Amino acid sequence: MSRLAHKTAVVTGGNSGIGLATVQAFIGEGAEVIFTGRNADANKEAEQALGSKAHGVVSDAGKWEDIQSLKAQVEAVTPKVDILFINAGIAQFAPVDQVSEEFFDKILDINFKGAYFTIQALLPLVNDGGSIILNTSINAHVGMPGASVYAASKAALLTLAKNLSAELVSRKIRVNAISPGPVTTPLHTPDKFGISEDAFKQIGESIAAQIPAGRFGAPEEIANAAVYFASDESRFLLGTELIIDGGMATL
Ligand SMILES: NC(=O)c1ccc[n+]([C@@H]2O[C@H](COP(=O)([O-])OP(=O)(O)OC[C@H]3O[C@@H](n4cnc5c(N)ncnc54)[C@H](OP(=O)(O)O)[C@@H]3O)[C@@H](O)[C@H]2O)c1
Repeated sequence: MSRLAHKTAVVTGGNSGIGLATVQAFIGEGAEVIFTGRNADANKEAEQALGSKAHGVVSDAGKWEDIQSLKAQVEAVTPKVDILFINAGIAQFAPVDQVSEEFFDKILDINFKGAYFTIQALLPLVNDGGSIILNTSINAHVGMPGASVYAASKAALLTLAKNLSAELVSRKIRVNAISPGPVTTPLHTPDKFGISEDAFKQIGESIAAQIPAGRFGAPEEIANAAVYFASDESRFLLGTELIIDGGMATL
């Protein structure tokens, strides 16, 4: 299939999980893709697996200087971009009485501030008629112990999809959001969640019990939606959201 033939995409956080599956799906539909990640080795490994249409760049969405230099890194590969998938993010959990300013800033810096200023930095490269897709989370819709900061960082992206769509409609640039429920990716480790093995096991069991479909999603199931939002098939969708959660919030 070639629903994204002749298109160029930027995917933030593209060396693992949902981002990696999306880079693969975009390439499968004919696109050229630049993806970011902080880890150079992980980027290289992904590039080797994905082939010559994948270009990894080292860039940290939580660092101001990296966001500001990302435009030049993208321009080294392509002068223009049609699709921007804002996916880089971290998920860390702590109860409200244990949230430090440092914990709060780290999550907001990457998940919201990083998303916002990456869009601002790359917007001059985005073609009129382009598509910007924001990866949020089901946590923007459900209440979950320990998730207050993460959930807020993702809820902020939902308002961004609407407000930026309103602002960019004159350029026919659409901004939409995908809100995944639990998806099996390398994110789901005690280390990445910032919690103990025991707490991780408990949370995992509790989350699984809340999914009517009876399973976690697969990264490809989110990537398929990203292809739809990226393609002209979704050209009448502006500022909207697709919840892909096995019924967790919707049933
Ligand atoms: N898995 C789920 O259940 C789930 C559910 C809802 C939403 N999400 C969202 O989906 C997105 C991807 O998560 P995932 O599950 O695919 O996790 P993952 O496998 O851990 O992948 C995260 C990706 O983001 C990159 N990344 C993380 N922090 C970054 C930063 N500061 N700057 C640039 N890149 C960064 C990572 O690369 P480096 O480590 O090399 O930086 C990696 O490529 C996240 O925004 C997450 O919140 C996930």
